Amino acid sequence: NAMLVWQRTAYHFQPQKNWMNDPDGPMYYKGWYHLFYQYNPDSAVWGNITWGHAVSRDLVHWLYLPLAMVPNHWYDANGVWTGSATLLPDGRIAMVYTGSTTESVQVQNLAFPADPDDPLLLKWNKSESNPVIRPPPRIGLTDFRDPTTAWYVPTESAWRIAIGSKDADHNGIALVYRTKDFVTYELLPRLLHSVNRTGMWECVDFYPVSTASAVGLDTSTGPGPGVKHVLKASLDDNKHDYYAIGTYDGEEGTWTPDDQEMDVGIGLRYDYGKYYASKTFYDPVKGRRVLWGWSGETDSERTDLLKGWASVQTIPRTVIYDHKTGRNLLQWPVDEVESLRLSSQEFSNITLSIGSVVPLDIGKATQLDIEAKFEIDASALERAIEADVGYNCSTSGGAAGRGALGPFGLLVLADQDLSEQTAVYFYLGRGTDGGLGTFFCQDELRSSLANDLVKRVYGSSVPVLNGESLTVRILVDHSIVESFAQEGRRCITSRVYPTEAIYGGARVFLFNNATGTPVTAKSIKIWQLNSAFIHPYSA
Ligand code: FRU
Repeated sequence: NAMLVWQRTAYHFQPQKNWMNDPDGPMYYKGWYHLFYQYNPDSAVWGNITWGHAVSRDLVHWLYLPLAMVPNHWYDANGVWTGSATLLPDGRIAMVYTGSTTESVQVQNLAFPADPDDPLLLKWNKSESNPVIRPPPRIGLTDFRDPTTAWYVPTESAWRIAIGSKDADHNGIALVYRTKDFVTYELLPRLLHSVNRTGMWECVDFYPVSTASAVGLDTSTGPGPGVKHVLKASLDDNKHDYYAIGTYDGEEGTWTPDDQEMDVGIGLRYDYGKYYASKTFYDPVKGRRVLWGWSGETDSERTDLLKGWASVQTIPRTVIYDHKTGRNLLQWPVDEVESLRLSSQEFSNITLSIGSVVPLDIGKATQLDIEAKFEIDASALERAIEADVGYNCSTSGGAAGRGALGPFGLLVLADQDLSEQTAVYFYLGRGTDGGLGTFFCQDELRSSLANDLVKRVYGSSVPVLNGESLTVRILVDHSIVESFAQEGRRCITSRVYPTEAIYGGARVFLFNNATGTPVTAKSIKIWQLNSAFIHPYSA
């Protein structure tokens, strides 16, 4: 199997070899986007964690740089763990990260560029004052990690950062510290937020979004008219990234979700698939907020060792508030990805009769950008009465489970005879309240003939407003499928490992497995995507 080389991605960021996990300290500095990441230089499994480093002009093409930080002090000897960058108004950078000490205690450390004039930021100095924060009383020594980017509070002439943890009752919490110089910190008496029984909060992220426009806001933009704040936590208990939109009370220093029932850890996820430990940064060049997330492997550790690598970063996503629903964010691949688009093919008004599978003849199909729009007849909605009550992507039969009004959508990374296929689909069903709703799911159950894999059906309900068609964008890249429904209201990332649907063997199909309605594929546009240039930097 020649080390399964076809599984490597062509335009997603991944190291040349070995293990990667969380994105760290993303930022824009002097002409370059910087991405640091949790990296094991020695093996394709987690361990020996250092900070890998890469730079890009456009978030698409990357140069690998030497390791930025390695475990070489007592305060990070067990790993240079996750951290965030803060760009100070005078141009300096404060990088605050978690160190796992010789005793495996989680402490926070400060690092800064050795040469601020070097746009590549090749060398990093760790502060003489490290560790700058130790676990406070009543916080577990191994439950205190992943500092956020700091936000500035002008009335105090001071910065604040949040750090995730859990309390004695297994409630997820975000602690807040105040600092003027990033060296000395004061723990504030009030938590930013906590949610019962959500366990350890890893990689907390906290940032403002504009409710008035689609521009991104600098992390220090305070609360006020036209501003809401997003709080995100990565739940160690279930390895999903949950966010909620709410209001930050600058005086109290606390954050409250708009909807208690959709709080952090119990409500919305950034992504319903294989996606974790994400982090945003404010991009001053394009005035946008950009989200990075880690997509790990769902094959076996044994296979990862054989391949010699594990994990990719998802395509960076622009994040904005959804002005139409007012209840969720919209995530969309950064525009620059479109620079990889080569030739395209369009299909329109294809009727998908009940039970049909329609091949789309597009040539190569391992690196694609797909935009698709579906409609079902209004008269079909009258049959909604037959639609399942309480449909759930994860516990359903996936693309093979037939209902009155679903599933229908696309099959990607499929082979000619459909022995392998990853289904991206919509399914209309009735909620437990009887109302008709739309579900957006991704089915990996038949994604590969190999069986030492985790294969799931992922997904959730997705808001569809009056008059809207059902739309999806899908990025296909060899072993990853990233899908965005309804302009990015819901996203699903799958890692899949076809054995037949590789090289020239990969195909794309439309399908309609609903028993009660034909479906119209109104428009489908498919671009071949070029490979990104991702190579070592040589001076
Ligand atoms: C999340 C995480 C962080 C930690 C890092 C260690 O994936 O566990 O909480 O800082 O990874 O690599």
